[in-house]
Amino acid sequence: AVVSPSLLAADVGHLAAAAEELARSGAHWVHVDVTDGSAECGRSLSSLGPASIAAVRRAAPSLRVDVHLYVREPEHHIETMAESGASTAEVLGAAAQERAAALAAAIGSLGCSAGVCLAPTTPIEAVSRLVSGGLVDLVNVLSVHPGIGGQPFQADALARLRALRKAHPQLPFLMVDGGIDAATAPLAAAAGANALVAGSYIFRA
Ligand code: DX5
Ligand code: ZN
Repeated sequence: AVVSPSLLAADVGHLAAAAEELARSGAHWVHVDVTDGSAECGRSLSSLGPASIAAVRRAAPSLRVDVHLYVREPEHHIETMAESGASTAEVLGAAAQERAAALAAAIGSLGCSAGVCLAPTTPIEAVSRLVSGGLVDLVNVLSVHPGIGGQPFQADALARLRALRKAHPQLPFLMVDGGIDAATAPLAAAAGANALVAGSYIFRA
């Protein structure tokens, strides 16, 4: 599985150094949570945004910058994300199917790969048409309440991962995000996840 260290847990004053260290340590991806503080995003407000994406991209050009958008109006932000160097952009899947499909197409036309995120309360069926239609190549299964790092892993994410993997064996990236550490990573991988986001576990080490 690929590991995507989450910069939410890094020292925000030293993002470039963190990115360099991640690349040196063998990371291939880096996960950047961008939030606008809206209710559907857990009201959290991270300090990560386009400037952080650009800084990370400059410091560690080899990393795939995986941007997790917790914003109410992703339509207004995807172009800025792409310009600052995002490789992948994930949008929330609770949005209407048509809106998510249009967003995925827009993300693709900006040269990024598109993903969709499932909050713990969103039924997995919400993304089935997006995945079957090949509109996204990544599904992020959130295993904590949205927006905040350092929470405990919600074990019912494992059944959701298994069901998604079974329904979509060809999906390139089944990601799990939240509460991933040495104990939960093997469980998530066994349930079918092949992209593991880890924030506190990596940056606390
Ligand atoms: C949670 C974010 C995660 C977060 C994970 O809402 O999407 O990416 O940084 O942090 P940990 O690994 O500490 O649970
Ligand atoms: Zn995330």
